[in-house]
Amino acid sequence: PLEEGWAPLRIRKYQGFWIPERVLQGIMDMQQNFKARPDDLFVLSYPKSGTTWLKALTYAIMTRSQYPLDHHPLLRQNPHEFVPIMGITYAKGEASELEAMSSPRILNTHLPYSLLPHAIKSLGCKLIYVCRDPKDVLVSRFHYNNRMRPQAMEPIPFTKAFEMFCEGNCPYGPIWEHVLEYWEESQRRPEKVLFLKYEEMLGDPPRIVKRLAEFMGCPFSPEEEKEGVVEEIIKLCSFDKMKSLEVNKTGKLRPDFVLTNDSFFRKGGAGDWRNHMSPEMARKLDRITEQKFEGSGLTLDAVD
Ligand code: A3P
Repeated sequence: PLEEGWAPLRIRKYQGFWIPERVLQGIMDMQQNFKARPDDLFVLSYPKSGTTWLKALTYAIMTRSQYPLDHHPLLRQNPHEFVPIMGITYAKGEASELEAMSSPRILNTHLPYSLLPHAIKSLGCKLIYVCRDPKDVLVSRFHYNNRMRPQAMEPIPFTKAFEMFCEGNCPYGPIWEHVLEYWEESQRRPEKVLFLKYEEMLGDPPRIVKRLAEFMGCPFSPEEEKEGVVEEIIKLCSFDKMKSLEVNKTGKLRPDFVLTNDSFFRKGGAGDWRNHMSPEMARKLDRITEQKFEGSGLTLDAVD
């Protein structure tokens, strides 16, 4: 089935999830042909959950001894340039660009766990997943789609977006199954799958940055901690810093990509759903989340 409602992103149901039509072929190609390397690191998420931030943090952590943090490439280029979105790369017929990357690579996809290329699982690559309160994910997606929309196209009303989201009908949805697949895998293989929440990243960035470095196999030395490297990385990747960079204010992510870099930096906090949803809508979405997560051990500590 083809759903038009998330225009300009047409989405198609594929193995239980709604995949944007423009990347579907690329994703099928990637599922068959992607050559994983054992030291690949994957940044994974349901879109609009904090992917860009996680990309910046993992890239800054991994390359911290290569570049001084005050001259870091993240000051000149958008995080998506260092951590490519695999489905888009395949969809554009540019898979050789991924092959050309030197190891260790950090790569990104929004695919649910069940749809990841098999090689990623069989090689035991490390996976980092970030999830976010679905209410804020929806609000973020709503604004993002409005930005992408050609001017001639009417925006969809928020109430319509809300209904569709609740039905799981949203790019890469349903969100709950997406989150649960990675949650369950992180419980089975905690040494290979790190499960993070956007809200806890906001709440305690130093703890998360140290946790990331440990998981990635490059923990901070006592000297680095004393020198304030953790804090510098947090500052380099902070929302205010990233949003204010000239490249992110003006740059196009890729010349042929409709989105500009600043589409990825909007408000950058928790709880913006309050400005969009009635209390009833919020309760409805929370109830769905509670029901879906029941028995899994996962709770989303929504910020009240
Ligand atoms: P909002 O639209 O609520 O502001 P993704 O990167 O998965 O597309 O998610 C985008 C969301 O993450 C946006 O949320 C964006 O503002 C927020 N974001 C981007 N960079 C961030 C950063 N450095 N710190 C915190 N949030 C960030």
